[in-house]
Amino acid sequence: MNRGPLIFLGLFFALASSWYGMVLEPQLELGRLVETNSVSAGETYPVPRPGQANQGLQVYRANGCVECHSQQVRPTPADLERWGKRRTVAEDYLYDRPVPLGAQRVGPDLANLALRPRTEAWHLAHLYAPRSVVPGSTMPPYPFLFETRKRGARPSPDALQLPAGFAPPPGWEVVPKPEANALVAYLNSLKADAALFDAPLPLPPRATNAVAGTNAPASATSRQHE
Ligand code: HEC
Repeated sequence: MNRGPLIFLGLFFALASSWYGMVLEPQLELGRLVETNSVSAGETYPVPRPGQANQGLQVYRANGCVECHSQQVRPTPADLERWGKRRTVAEDYLYDRPVPLGAQRVGPDLANLALRPRTEAWHLAHLYAPRSVVPGSTMPPYPFLFETRKRGARPSPDALQLPAGFAPPPGWEVVPKPEANALVAYLNSLKADAALFDAPLPLPPRATNAVAGTNAPASATSRQHE
């Protein structure tokens, strides 16, 4: 018996259904995602990252930061308490190519890193030698994003201030390469806390009888998606 047509139909169906599930359906759902307005301030969200921060995303990708860091706050109390004010939504990544969702969470989630009190100098020292600022850190160091060079008569203004044990030998200095500065600009742009219509900030504890699902005044909500 010739089973050719049956095998063809079976294969066709398998391929067609995976195309539908993995290409068409996500495209219909998210393909036409556009900027929206934040509920509280009515501001456009998201705004594209500045150029240097956008370059930093490429440094982030190239160095495999996503292998250990997620940028995805799940709608669970544990995640919301530790990593963000609201759950992550697709709009948060509208301008990111590639989307740095993260593969695992070995280190902290970075979705709202810019809201934490970290200075540029802290980030640079941390990237150069994580243990110079976080004792016992298991994050790998990225010294190749920096240049260790002979110091001139005066140290460069951007030379890292490193504690003993991490500082270069006397007469030498560690300065960030453009990649390191771009990466820090990117890290400082990580902030996904705007209240959105589809992801409002969690309601404050029940003090008022506000309408569930939004914490914005009616005037602000009605300006959504104008
Ligand atoms: C092997 C896993 C691993 C990789 C790869 C990794 N990290 Fe980390 N990262 C960690 C761990 C663990 C911590 C927590 C300890 C610490 O703060 O050093 C951390 C902490 C951080 C923090 C501090 C966050 C905070 O809130 O204190 C930043 C920023 C950071 N990593 C950025 C990066 C960047 C940028 C890259 C890529 C260049 C990267 N990490 C790659 C594991 C990793």
